[in-house]
Amino acid sequence: MAEAAGRTLGDEEVAAAERVIRSGMLNSVWGTEARLLEAEVARMYGLPHAISCSSGTAALHLAVVAAAPDPGDEIITTPITDFGTVAPILAQNAVPVFADVDPGDGNLDPGAVAKLIGPRTRAIMAVHLFGAPARVDELRALADAHGLTLIEDCAQAWLAELPAPEAADASPRLAGTVGDVACLSLQQWKHITCGDGGIALTADDELARRMRLFADKGWDRAAGRSHASFGLNYRMTELQAAVARAQLAKLPGVVAARRRTAALLLDALGNVPGLRLPRPDGHAWWLFPLVLPGGGARELAEALAAAGVPARAGYLGEPLNRAPVWHGPVYGASRGPLEGYTPADCPEADRLVADTLLVIDWNEHYTGEHVEVVAREIVRATPRSGGRA
Ligand SMILES: Cc1ncc(COP(=O)(O)O)c(C=O)c1O
Repeated sequence: MAEAAGRTLGDEEVAAAERVIRSGMLNSVWGTEARLLEAEVARMYGLPHAISCSSGTAALHLAVVAAAPDPGDEIITTPITDFGTVAPILAQNAVPVFADVDPGDGNLDPGAVAKLIGPRTRAIMAVHLFGAPARVDELRALADAHGLTLIEDCAQAWLAELPAPEAADASPRLAGTVGDVACLSLQQWKHITCGDGGIALTADDELARRMRLFADKGWDRAAGRSHASFGLNYRMTELQAAVARAQLAKLPGVVAARRRTAALLLDALGNVPGLRLPRPDGHAWWLFPLVLPGGGARELAEALAAAGVPARAGYLGEPLNRAPVWHGPVYGASRGPLEGYTPADCPEADRLVADTLLVIDWNEHYTGEHVEVVAREIVRATPRSGGRA
């Protein structure tokens, strides 16, 4: 196999880093790169505001700040995601409420979300898992009906597309344009990277103002040395921003290349019994997920890994509603608003992580030959892994 974590870092990023270092200004308060990155990402997504910050987790923290939960308010999210989706809820003294997922793709099940909406619900955080668009139109409708903020975690889903609206001339919409806030990650292994970095996107002027302030210590720089609100220092550096700009220029090619080879693998696996293939529509292919409805994903992942295919079962060690973090102190010796809290069971997420989900690392340098090897090994190993239905 090719190096599974193929990146597109090259001369352009070297030149960007050198440009910043030679300018002598590495901080984005006084530099130009972060502001330019924000303008470029905002233009790409057709939204008026992009706020750069230090990580995807920071961007999600800004999004939770924008939702403005009171301490103890609830935010509904998915148990199959990176902990960076959930940590910001804790950081704002809110309570995560885990809703179960669709067994076909691991994305939030809007029906499960609807059942959990209560008087303390403040927001819904959806994740476009592995690059597959989540059902955010349905979540938007729920959020609107209940006066909730909808946050889209697009960390794994740069340029993922949502189904086009009914109108014949309608063009596809990007995942991230339906929520009140969308968050992107530039962490090392995402579609594009500057090591660590994040972007929060919004169409709402007031939410943008809140997020900008929070990312800069609540410092309203137009008002002198005056702190308008509570905030942290989540600023992206100029070095990160310059590298991210070089990467952003490569993003459409990165996503197109991933889509090309993913389509080849989908074709090659079309007739393998016992496998549920991902729907390609709008997928950005951060990873290539496979579901074995009859079980046996662990055995198949082991067989693939032994053959050199970068496959892993379950994606997580446990769904996040089962993480040890919920059973100990969270703030010093206290559990704050989590006192008496037990996360709900999510049986579909349990089954995916324990038995039916497998992910294959994907990247833009894969060729048709790589895909042939992956397909051959999956076909070879799938009957042996059994499918225990
Ligand atoms: C779905 C999801 N949300 C949030 C994050 C957090 O992003 P970061 O690692 O940039 O803080 C990640 C990635 O790590 C992720 O995959």
